[in-house]
Amino acid sequence: MSDSDEDVQLEARLREQEYFRPPARFVGQANVSDPAVYDRFDEFPDGFEEYAVLLDWDDHWDAVLDASNPPFFRWFTGGRLNASYNCVDRHLADRKNQAALVWEGEHGDRRTLTYRDLYREVNEFAAALRSEGVDEDDVVTVHLPMVPALPITMLACARIGAPHSVVFGGFSASALAERVDDAGSDFVVTIDGYYRRGEFLDHVQKADAAMEETDRDPEVLVWTRHDEVHESVSISDDYTLVSEVLADHERERVEPVSRDAEDPLFLMYTSGTTGKPKGCQHRTGGYLAYAAGTSKYVLDIKPEDTYWCAADIGWITGHSYIVYGPLALGTTSVMYEGAPDFPHKSRIWELAEKYDVDIFHTSPTAVRQFMKWGPEHVEGYDFSFRHMTTVGEPIQPEAWLWYYTHIGREKAVIVDTWWQTETGGHLITNLPALADMKPGSAGLPAPGIDPAIVDDRGEEIDPASGRAGNLVIRKPWPGMLQTVYGDDDRFVSTYWEEFSDTGSDDWRDWNYKAGDGAVHERDGYWRILGRLDDVMNVAGHRLGTMELESAVAEVEDVAEAAVVARDHPEKGEVPEVYVVLREGVEASDEVRGRIVEAVEDEIGKFARPANVAFVDDLPKTRSGKIMRRILENISNDEDLGDTTTLRDPDVPEQIRRQVQGD
Ligand code: WTA
Repeated sequence: MSDSDEDVQLEARLREQEYFRPPARFVGQANVSDPAVYDRFDEFPDGFEEYAVLLDWDDHWDAVLDASNPPFFRWFTGGRLNASYNCVDRHLADRKNQAALVWEGEHGDRRTLTYRDLYREVNEFAAALRSEGVDEDDVVTVHLPMVPALPITMLACARIGAPHSVVFGGFSASALAERVDDAGSDFVVTIDGYYRRGEFLDHVQKADAAMEETDRDPEVLVWTRHDEVHESVSISDDYTLVSEVLADHERERVEPVSRDAEDPLFLMYTSGTTGKPKGCQHRTGGYLAYAAGTSKYVLDIKPEDTYWCAADIGWITGHSYIVYGPLALGTTSVMYEGAPDFPHKSRIWELAEKYDVDIFHTSPTAVRQFMKWGPEHVEGYDFSFRHMTTVGEPIQPEAWLWYYTHIGREKAVIVDTWWQTETGGHLITNLPALADMKPGSAGLPAPGIDPAIVDDRGEEIDPASGRAGNLVIRKPWPGMLQTVYGDDDRFVSTYWEEFSDTGSDDWRDWNYKAGDGAVHERDGYWRILGRLDDVMNVAGHRLGTMELESAVAEVEDVAEAAVVARDHPEKGEVPEVYVVLREGVEASDEVRGRIVEAVEDEIGKFARPANVAFVDDLPKTRSGKIMRRILENISNDEDLGDTTTLRDPDVPEQIRRQVQGD
């Protein structure tokens, strides 16, 4: 059968079969199969105790929720616990020799860390951090790729009550420096290098450049990818080699620090509508309870499973659903260092077979890639997933069906999980045994979550009306961010002001603004449409338009720049740059190269613009505001739309001709 025949058949099937029942073999063994769970969580806020009791607490909480000062909600007040203890120590009694992390290096090397190994390594590194002067509440910035040192570092920080701020390894030196400064961090943990597509990448050089840029003078601790520093890398004398410090702390134990439920566990920076990334601050008790609870109820994780989330720990998905949730439940989690197509396009399925993975978690971008590579790369591998997840972007029904058919082999249940860095865990997603799957729709709200759709004036759109609007969440939930680090005002203005009565101290008057457009469909399912603000979603990575524009503006020859999202068949969206050059500067590949380089330097290679268009002018309103929407229409070959409010209504057509030709 040719590809196109197959596509026609898939499409026909999609049209006639909107819903897919969860396979019986899944339902029979699911962690949650009684619909009464929703009623229990409707008891607000006490329903959420069902997640908190999954953890071990040093002191029980006095109240589930303190909503007296919205939107600064406090969860499980008076409770005390340690996240590292919950993810490691407490499993030793039952399963010390079970693998906690199975790590596969791209280079072909592999390491299995049992819970006992993890316990030893986390303790030793916690002792090392302390001896280097890390105190409780010091923010430790962590710039590591997908190697065991990353979860070990996070859990060691958690053990001594030092919030970690993990910066995705693909971020540039400038992005790292900016986050170190914003967090006021005096410690940076990095590594000599790692492998990507067969090549050893010098990673510590990013720390070197970041140290030049930062206003602070942090201590830099350097892990090594192999036993010794790689021959291609040189390490500054100012830095401390982790291996040398660890040598002084062999077999040392560090008592887990009992943290208040509201003490911060970590910061995770994310892009927003303004230039500067925001440090989303997550609390210890509520976050961990929510990550563990959703890992159990939504991801259906059991201790005896082998679970693989193919995200990077440097993003929130990896924090909640590689490290904290799965390890709190005591399962075996797979971690992979490298690219999905190196050394060949069956790499993922080879590993799925090798480790006999039960639960598989990936993004629509990855699914679209697998689809492009073709089913022949999956066929013949002996694995059988029981459960699969998608996260990060809306998934097209065609991609969903391909995932279901070729990866799940029609035997796995799929959950499409909608959530955000800010929300800590899933908010809209089916509990897999309790609702039919509907391709392209995230499904029903998670237990206890109360979404609504409002129009731009904040008026609620009738439930299940099928009309699109702004997605808001009405009731608070334990996984929500506490604040924007060091900037409570920005927390209120970004997430609450627009759709809340900010003068009220009744929590019912406060609505969390997600920044996404969504539809509550007639069947009660929620379909997410994507960001409504100036944030784009490139291969599942959030990028702020303003961050990109300020990077482009760094180039001397640029007079003005606007960045918009162009739709892309695999990556979802890609950034496209429109530039007006300074008088007398000629458009050239050389200038274009410098613009691309500026974005790579300021943010990282993953943010590289797909195209740089040189134009004479940008479409602007009479007050001088750049109309990105019009540029976005040009980039996506759509009608220009209403141009009558522009200062010069002819500009868009000129740009279109300059960019697309006549
Ligand atoms: C988008 C990632 C549709 C959305 C966990 C959100 C999704 C942003 C989905 C958050 C989904 C995430 N369906 N869109 N299942 N999941 N998004 O902070 O636009 O990196 O606002 O968190 O990704 O991205 P973030």
